[in-house]
Amino acid sequence: METTITTSVRVAARHIQRGNLVAFPTETVYGLGADVFNRSAVNKIFRAKGRPSDNPLIVHISSTGELRKVADKIPRIAKELIRAFFPGPLTIILPKRHNIPGNVTGGLKTVAVRMPDHPTTQRFLRACGTPIAAPSANRSGKPSPTSWQAVVDDLDGRIHCILKGERSRVGLESTVVDCTTGRPVVLRTGAVSIERLRKVCPGIRIAARKRVGIPKSPGMKYRHYAPKAQVKVIDSPRREITSATAAYIGLTRPLAGFGSAKTCGSLRDYARFLYHFFRLCDQKGIKTIYCQRVPHRGLGIAIMDRVRRAAHR
Ligand code: TXA
Ligand code: MG
Repeated sequence: METTITTSVRVAARHIQRGNLVAFPTETVYGLGADVFNRSAVNKIFRAKGRPSDNPLIVHISSTGELRKVADKIPRIAKELIRAFFPGPLTIILPKRHNIPGNVTGGLKTVAVRMPDHPTTQRFLRACGTPIAAPSANRSGKPSPTSWQAVVDDLDGRIHCILKGERSRVGLESTVVDCTTGRPVVLRTGAVSIERLRKVCPGIRIAARKRVGIPKSPGMKYRHYAPKAQVKVIDSPRREITSATAAYIGLTRPLAGFGSAKTCGSLRDYARFLYHFFRLCDQKGIKTIYCQRVPHRGLGIAIMDRVRRAAHR
């Protein structure tokens, strides 16, 4: 199929209304969307990405008014999180409404909901007139795309339309919080830090990384975010590891000699460039990517989560 690349939210929304897939920008990463109520359109997402069908999707809404189209009930704590962080890089898990097709939620009784904080995404969602089910717009197993060019690399010829926007401002996926149990749990760390969540919800905790049995968030059991190159975590970019086939990303400026290097001015920068850098390194044929460890707080927790997953073989 031919993939239309457009800046027109109308053209993109028409594709959604016809039951086609559209990749679209958000502040976190690019998403691959379908009309949440169109079961066969949702099925196409799994085929295009090569995604396991038990891994549920996030439903994207343009206003809090749309919550009742997808969720059965909104617990008090969810209301507080919504008030504090919507629109923004926070996804909350709620009891699902009966009319949401089972393939959106991987057969679960819950649904993940997020309201992106990005003007183009908002215009696109409003033009669609329906909530949009969307995972990240990468081929399964690859780093999430933070630019429309990265979406082209992964999905050109496999989807009908790419809505072109700027590079994603955050660069990492949203924080996912389960609000369906008594005490809210962070299932995936992200741009909304645990410290900020605690201000609204003091009892919140981060789910243990290793769980036995069925993971609460099915996506967390798959290998993720990984470039072809081997990823290694280091404390500082020492001379011994410099090489033309090695790359480095971190906060400390490295010595010359890496095939590719990115010095980040802040944790925000690190988050914003990480996936982009992974993809760049693969294009250059880099063999090893050294990622500098950052302290385990704030955005550092999400950065280290993604780096460790990429490093895990
Ligand atoms: O920033 C983001 O969240 C991006 C943009 C496009 O919005 N989306 C994204 O989607 O990262 P995806 O599919 O790559 O990751 C969704 C995560 C997965 O780990 C999935 O298992 C989890 O959310 N999830 C979705 N529905 C769930 C549910 N009902 N219960 C538990 N986990 C759920
Ligand atoms: Mg993903």
